[in-house]
Amino acid sequence: MTDRYAVVGNPVAHSKSPAIHAEFARQTGQDMAYTRLLAPLDRFAQTVEAFRASGGKGVNVTLPFKGEAFHLATERTGRALSARAVNTLRFDDQRVLGDNTDGAGLVRDIRENLSLPLEGRRVLLVGAGGAASGVIQALLDTGIATLVLANRTVERARDLAQRFGGAVEPCGLDALGDAGFDVIVNATSASLSGEVPPLPPGVFASGSLAYDMMYGKGETPFLAAARAAGAARLADGLGMLVEQAAASFEVWRGVRPQTAPVLAMLRGTE
Ligand code: ATR
Repeated sequence: MTDRYAVVGNPVAHSKSPAIHAEFARQTGQDMAYTRLLAPLDRFAQTVEAFRASGGKGVNVTLPFKGEAFHLATERTGRALSARAVNTLRFDDQRVLGDNTDGAGLVRDIRENLSLPLEGRRVLLVGAGGAASGVIQALLDTGIATLVLANRTVERARDLAQRFGGAVEPCGLDALGDAGFDVIVNATSASLSGEVPPLPPGVFASGSLAYDMMYGKGETPFLAAARAAGAARLADGLGMLVEQAAASFEVWRGVRPQTAPVLAMLRGTE
């Protein structure tokens, strides 16, 4: 019997995950189907439980339910615990395993797809919401030299940084000064409202990579601003999307799919 998976979100209609997982399944010869599941805002747990009761094997969880998915899990991986959010649920007999592959997806995209080693780099992470929280531990684990966490509301940056001991330096956007960074990651939701977090141009050191966890048609507002400020390299979050999907696929199926052809397909370069 074909194993069934889904991405649960609200909204979820535009999710690229079904196309990505269909391609992974084809490539690895796995007998599985992957669909979209729209959960009403107040019925996430019921929606997931109904899917599970009908024989579903696991789900990806997207906005705004990653926190609820964390609580729904009966067991959590270390990366879910450090993110306090879950984007992957796997249903095994009685237990529900909660994992988070977002940080691994970001790091793999930067290191493998963009060929940028992270050891010793100065990294600026902008934003202190769920998107930022999901990637901090994975960034720290790469051996970066510095992780500065800058947020419009400095208290949120302090609260989030404090969870990682002294390894993360919190600050307000206005306190960033002239220091340059090698990698600048936008984890804010500013572009949803067509805005860009106001960063001093000096943060984009010569040779720096500006990375937007968001993606869309054409250049995102953050990447346009980074280009104008002199960032040498620009990347949107499509690579992270494909890499986090591959990591989820591996959690479910125990097989690691090839990501490069899927990324090329989504970018329309194949
Ligand atoms: P998510 O789960 O997507 O991270 P969130 O928890 O609502 O969503 O967090 C949104 C993040 O984007 C926050 O860091 C927010 O800054 P505040 O904590 O100061 O609200 C940031 N953000 C949203 N719009 C922004 C803007 N126009 N400029 C700068 N930061 C913005």
